[in-house]
Amino acid sequence: MKVVITGGAGFLGRRLAIRLLEKGTLAGPDGSPLPIDQLILLDVVAAGGLSDPRLRAIQGDIADPVLLRRVIDADVGAVFHLAAVVSGQAEADFDLGMRVNLDASRHLLEACRAAGHCPRVIFTSSVAVYGGELPALVRDDTALTPRSSYGVQKAMGELLLSDYTRKGYVDGRVLRLPTIVVRPGKPNKATSSFASGIIREPLNGEEAVCPVPLDTRLWLLSPRRAVAALLTGHDLAGAALGDDRAVNLPGLSVTVREMIDALSRVAGAEVAARIRHEPDATITRIVGGWPGGWDTARAEALGFRGDGEFDAVIRAYLEDR
Ligand SMILES: NC(=O)c1ccc[n+]([C@@H]2O[C@H](COP(=O)([O-])OP(=O)(O)OC[C@H]3O[C@@H](n4cnc5c(N)ncnc54)[C@H](O)[C@@H]3O)[C@@H](O)[C@H]2O)c1
Repeated sequence: MKVVITGGAGFLGRRLAIRLLEKGTLAGPDGSPLPIDQLILLDVVAAGGLSDPRLRAIQGDIADPVLLRRVIDADVGAVFHLAAVVSGQAEADFDLGMRVNLDASRHLLEACRAAGHCPRVIFTSSVAVYGGELPALVRDDTALTPRSSYGVQKAMGELLLSDYTRKGYVDGRVLRLPTIVVRPGKPNKATSSFASGIIREPLNGEEAVCPVPLDTRLWLLSPRRAVAALLTGHDLAGAALGDDRAVNLPGLSVTVREMIDALSRVAGAEVAARIRHEPDATITRIVGGWPGGWDTARAEALGFRGDGEFDAVIRAYLEDR
């Protein structure tokens, strides 16, 4: 089968591509493994640096419906829809966020529908679909109450995927990802970018800025576990999910203080001392509105796994680096 990753040049898209090439198969429509003959990385930036005869990188804009209909034909058995404008950028540029996070998702689903064969579509949503007054434990069926444009766009993407699934146009699965830490490279425009920055920059010998209070609670997942979750989400039988296609992934609930303590244990107090505290009211308001407690029993019963402890997440980052 052909597999498409939108956002295939990105942080998770590239890791997913490597893992899919290693694994070589994905569940077909009847659940039995099918070989991956072609893996298409569709991204607005060039997806370079990977070499495999099954790979095809297409550089283009997923908001272009003509391109999507060309890429998604009846041989495409799986679409991992990862391309997105991240939270801070979607908040700053409303039109861009709506175009890429909402309009393009609809065009993608329409392209799948036009192909007429009900491919599996895995959509990466976010904890940003929640906000405001929340119950102590957020469950998969807690009402979506986003407080940012990005969260609204993800929530609308979830609803679209759910309806295209109900109509039998796609076999959709929504994974609400915790914040993925530790993200390598440079800071990005996500509101939660600091969560990786306060670990990554000190380990690189650089100063990091922490913009939120130390008791801010975050919901985190390592890149390794996130990629594993994407595969689990794909290979699950649709019947196991039933009508509710959205799953809150298990994560690690930690405060910023606990993250810094873990960094101190793994890399030394002098490394952790490179974090400077400089409160940012906007980031504190948005991140502070995300849920602190999660009930992920359903995800665990479906086979999704979180990380054991934050020290191990830092050590895994150092190994991968
Ligand atoms: N990383 C996280 O902490 C996190 C948390 C929750 C949800 N998510 C979601 O997971 C997905 C992947 O996240 P990531 O961290 O890999 O993000 P990323 O920013 O690294 O990758 C997204 C990719 O999408 C591409 N893209 C953006 N606009 C495009 C367009 N118009 N056409 C084609 N490609 C376009 C970008 O070039 C980029 O390569 C996203 O949907 C994101 O919203 C990520």
